[in-house]
Amino acid sequence: MGSSTTVVILAAGKGTRMRSTMPKVLHPLCGRPMIAWVIDLARTLDPERIVLVTGYGAEQVAEAARAAAGDHALECVVQEPQHGTGHAMQVAQTVVPEGTERVVVLYGDMPLLCPSSLEALLAAQGEAGAGSTAMLTMRVAEPHGYGRIVRDAAGGVSSIVEEKDASLEQRAIDEINLGVYAFDGAALRADLPNLSNDNAQEEYYITDLVGMAVGAGRTVAPVVLTDRAEARGVNSMAELAEARTTLQMRILEEHMANGVLIEDPATTFVEHGVEIGAGTHILPCTVIHSGVTIGAGCEVGPFTHLRVGTVLADAAEVGNFTECKQSHIGEGSKAKHLSYLGNTNVGKKTNIGAGTIFANYDGKKKHTTDVGDGVFVGSGTIIVAPNRLPDGTTTGAGAVVTRTAKLAPGETWIGLPARRLGPPSPGKND
Ligand code: UD1
Ligand code: MG
Repeated sequence: MGSSTTVVILAAGKGTRMRSTMPKVLHPLCGRPMIAWVIDLARTLDPERIVLVTGYGAEQVAEAARAAAGDHALECVVQEPQHGTGHAMQVAQTVVPEGTERVVVLYGDMPLLCPSSLEALLAAQGEAGAGSTAMLTMRVAEPHGYGRIVRDAAGGVSSIVEEKDASLEQRAIDEINLGVYAFDGAALRADLPNLSNDNAQEEYYITDLVGMAVGAGRTVAPVVLTDRAEARGVNSMAELAEARTTLQMRILEEHMANGVLIEDPATTFVEHGVEIGAGTHILPCTVIHSGVTIGAGCEVGPFTHLRVGTVLADAAEVGNFTECKQSHIGEGSKAKHLSYLGNTNVGKKTNIGAGTIFANYDGKKKHTTDVGDGVFVGSGTIIVAPNRLPDGTTTGAGAVVTRTAKLAPGETWIGLPARRLGPPSPGKND
């Protein structure tokens, strides 16, 4: 796209309706803050710059946005106090270079918009020609809470009216403003100083720019979307939950398209940025966090919790009521029932019996345990870390393997605390 496009993301609001002290755009959606999804969306346009307007919790919001923007140019400006979306645009405009051809505006609380809709928006503005504005709208059964699109007798857009300012007839309008616009850079520069706050909320509304453009005889091109999910602005905890469900389904659909069998998408939680190999089978009620990598032909679940730093090699199996964190499970190894693997590296073709606990935490630090290839860990074993179960070792049911135990390859240890069964092995203390 053209080199003189700026994307402005408005994210200064506290999000009063969330009833939370956390800035609205930092609330998590599938393993990352809401704002990260919007930054991703902005990046699909590869704009010359992204300008983020922050206010409430400015530092934290900027930090989360920078993490998502990576090496893409991102400029954060602080709007303090916040006098509305139009005022936020006035603040953003102070860092938009003169000569910028196009300014695309996104709201930080609209994480579900699809890149294809942004493309349609830009195409519409391009077609409408110099000086024009394009905007996204939608017809919905329940327009409550949104700005309404007022059209003239010929069907053209004449203005946007906010719910709080709308007459009864206007409230009956079922076409809503999604809060996504493409402005001509020069027209925006000219119009912004003329916004007024003469309205029910005594705020400067970005939405008034549409009426001003019409008044000045410039073209306003509406793009009417149809997928209800895309229109979801997140203003409350209930809307956050709905947005999560929608994003979750998109993530799962992507994995399924890659050949992952997800038996029950409704009860499967897979966060952003998880890699899963083809032919892996995910059973119901499973939670997989960001920062997990799963190979091909694995089985995960039901009721499994995989946390950050978990890596399953191909054909590994992790089953019910098993939690893994910062752990590597080798090819063909299994931990099928009721276990905790924390800071544990398991080799190939090893069996972790039911109820095994890798006790990785001594109250101060986390410690690592290395488990070799072809190990058989008996049911109910507790391994106190740091520790090492070399290749071919076995533990008996209920064994407690303390830190002082020094298992040699092929040995069997049983009991509480575990002691060596049989004569000392020459390879001991390796
Ligand atoms: C806004 C629109 C409404 C639209 C709806 C779509 C306006 C006036 N109204 O209403 O027409 O239907 O979104 O979801 O724009 N923000 C700032 N600074 C401020 C105020 C808000 O940066 O001073 C940011 C917020 O952080 C948020 C976004 O702008 O990300 C939208 O603000 P919000 O208060 O959610 O507007 P809505 O009432 O949802
Ligand atoms: Mg909103």
